[in-house]
Amino acid sequence: MKRDFISLKSCTNAELAKLLESASRLKRAKNRISDDLKGKTVGLIFQKPSNRTRVSFEVGIHQLGGNCIYLGPEEINLGKREATSDVAKTLSRYLDGIVARTFSHHDVVELAKFATVPVINGLTDLSHPCQAMADMLTIHEHFGKFKNIKLAYVGDGNNVCHSLMIISAKLGVNMTVAHPKGYAPLKIVIDAAQDLALETNAKINLTTDPVQAVKGAQVIYADTWVSMGQEEEARKRLKIFDKYQINKKLIANADKKFIFMHCLPAHRGQEVTEEIIDGPHSVIFDQAENRLHAQKAILLHLLGKGKK
Ligand code: CP
Ligand code: NVA
Repeated sequence: MKRDFISLKSCTNAELAKLLESASRLKRAKNRISDDLKGKTVGLIFQKPSNRTRVSFEVGIHQLGGNCIYLGPEEINLGKREATSDVAKTLSRYLDGIVARTFSHHDVVELAKFATVPVINGLTDLSHPCQAMADMLTIHEHFGKFKNIKLAYVGDGNNVCHSLMIISAKLGVNMTVAHPKGYAPLKIVIDAAQDLALETNAKINLTTDPVQAVKGAQVIYADTWVSMGQEEEARKRLKIFDKYQINKKLIANADKKFIFMHCLPAHRGQEVTEEIIDGPHSVIFDQAENRLHAQKAILLHLLGKGKK
């Protein structure tokens, strides 16, 4: 049966560990060209802009010996020009896999439901699992473990935050989210993460106090305050999130050896000051690079030799 990579919830903890090991191995192999995806073509359906996701998938597929076709918003017009189910069934006759970045999470779920080839979530309004995989690879590279690591996510309870909560719970990372009132992660995600954390003893906490979140944290994580599709709320959000900026004063509460993470794109002077994001604790480009290795591991897992 074909497998998809849509939600981290549906991966077992052992599968996640294996994928991260595989990503690490691929990284050590230094982008060597292989023929694992020889003769296979992957379609990239993007409803939103992208730098890292598109480029790292295209390069990764190339390095694995496969081909890809970029299908931007104008080409497919998912659900508008034709039904998502028809897109999924048609593309399954040509392609060996699909990466999709959509607004509604339901669209990726629909694609996966009707496609007979694997579908990978390249970000939806609900989640960003490929990013979370790269982030965990980065954290493990840095600290050599997940246990007893405190990750403080400061800002909007958005897609990136959701995936970090689920993966932290599954891998045993303690995570505290500091968010303004009214911008908490979705309750369904909080409940799922806290439930999954019972298995690993991870602590998944929420607060509206950024200082409390950052206290003693080894990992400080920021994302934009205005996600793609929320542009009209920008003015309001910039005011509301003002106290949630990662700056020198806030990180004085963190562990001395903290790392600063951001999925990018970043807005210097908004969610993070220039001196932090460009400072010695920042690992943002390791994270960006690790998208490539993590996604190659996912591609091999779903489409590699022996997989249909
Ligand atoms: N972090 C991330 O997904 O970046 P892009 O939006 O540029 O793909
Ligand atoms: N939360 C951001 C992440 C971008 C990679 C967004 O959805 O725009």
